[in-house]
Amino acid sequence: MSLIYVLNGPNLNLLGKRQPHIYGHETLVDVETDCRKLASKLGHEIRFHQSNREYEIIDWIHEAREDGAGIVINPAAFTHTSLAILDALNTFEGPVIEIHISNVHKRESFRHHSFVSHRADGVIAGLGTEGYQLGIRRVATMLKTERKD
Ligand code: DQA
Repeated sequence: MSLIYVLNGPNLNLLGKRQPHIYGHETLVDVETDCRKLASKLGHEIRFHQSNREYEIIDWIHEAREDGAGIVINPAAFTHTSLAILDALNTFEGPVIEIHISNVHKRESFRHHSFVSHRADGVIAGLGTEGYQLGIRRVATMLKTERKD
């Protein structure tokens, strides 16, 4: 059983209340519950975090270097601004999947660039909160493949 970090950036604590026409009605607690169910089905453990503070996300990535096998991350607005999160992810060796609930490419042009995509092994955008499930599945598949190599 390995540990997958699911990290969430600023304002995602308001999921379900915040612009539901863009981000849907599910709360972050709902997302966490679904992630935990899926992870245990796949034989993995999850550490699920959200913060509005960039340094906390960086600290969790550093923690993942010690005990994490993979990272699923929705960096929210830090996607488009944070070289520091990219640098932290570049120190992590396992699979990294970037998630966006909305299709950022269909939105304002300032959402089209992602620092995190320079490191992510895959990017999921516009599939709603289901993106988290798909991200966890992909990390699990990549971990299985790594083990066979
Ligand atoms: C987001 C997209 C970002 O552009 C935005 O700043 C967010 C959420 C998404 O999940 O669609 O906060 O990452």
